[in-house]
Amino acid sequence: MRKKFVAGNWKMHGSFQQNTALLENLKAHVSDVACEVAVCVPYPYLAQAQSMVEGSVIGLGAQNLSEHVSGAFTGEVSASMLKEFGCRYVLVGHSERRAQYGESDAVVAAKFAAAQAVGIVPVLCVGESLAERQSGLTAQVVSRQLSAVLDLLGVAALESSVVAYEPVWAIGTGMTATPGQAQEVHFAIRSQVAVQNAVIAGGLRILYGGSVKPQNAKELFAQADIDGGLIGGAALVADDFLAICRAAA
Ligand code: PGA
Repeated sequence: MRKKFVAGNWKMHGSFQQNTALLENLKAHVSDVACEVAVCVPYPYLAQAQSMVEGSVIGLGAQNLSEHVSGAFTGEVSASMLKEFGCRYVLVGHSERRAQYGESDAVVAAKFAAAQAVGIVPVLCVGESLAERQSGLTAQVVSRQLSAVLDLLGVAALESSVVAYEPVWAIGTGMTATPGQAQEVHFAIRSQVAVQNAVIAGGLRILYGGSVKPQNAKELFAQADIDGGLIGGAALVADDFLAICRAAA
């Protein structure tokens, strides 16, 4: 039985003041939520978030990391640094990083490996663009993105990881995939893993992301292969994020 998981992706939002208000609010109400909950915060706020979520059920995550262990990589942040700040999770391959920072499938797979090497759970983001969907390439694109990790690290690597299916056209646009559209891709992802190892596939949590809101969360999370959500905009509003967490319970 896979435990549902809802993770907030704050992206480049927040301030000391806003984070305090948001996390205080989440902490006050999260204990009545049955799913696993995490927040992925900007690097400079890791220390603040770490001290605020300590002792609560909220897990801490980052939004990116370097594929390198250490060295002359100005501006980069390593997995072991994230570990020192108590990160349990890190997003890898978010579509904004793939599209705006040129992260290739190979780089994303290397980041996935770097996270696991220090015991951080990578949340591998995959998803097709609107043009790719319209060209009927959804299955092919998602499969290729997943294969990059499977080919580099083997199926066993997926045991301590999470996958997030985020159709690019649904991110921040208000255009959510229908539960049926999402389920179809989630099933394909699980099936691709199952070809190599059915037990790992059965235990793999696959989150949906892309304009998840309190209004659509329940129906999405009710799909057989949707194990929770990766939440952007709605994760910045405590009441909305909590409502989405409750929808996953
Ligand atoms: P959104 O973002 O919920 O604002 O669409 C999701 C994400 O990018 O992770």
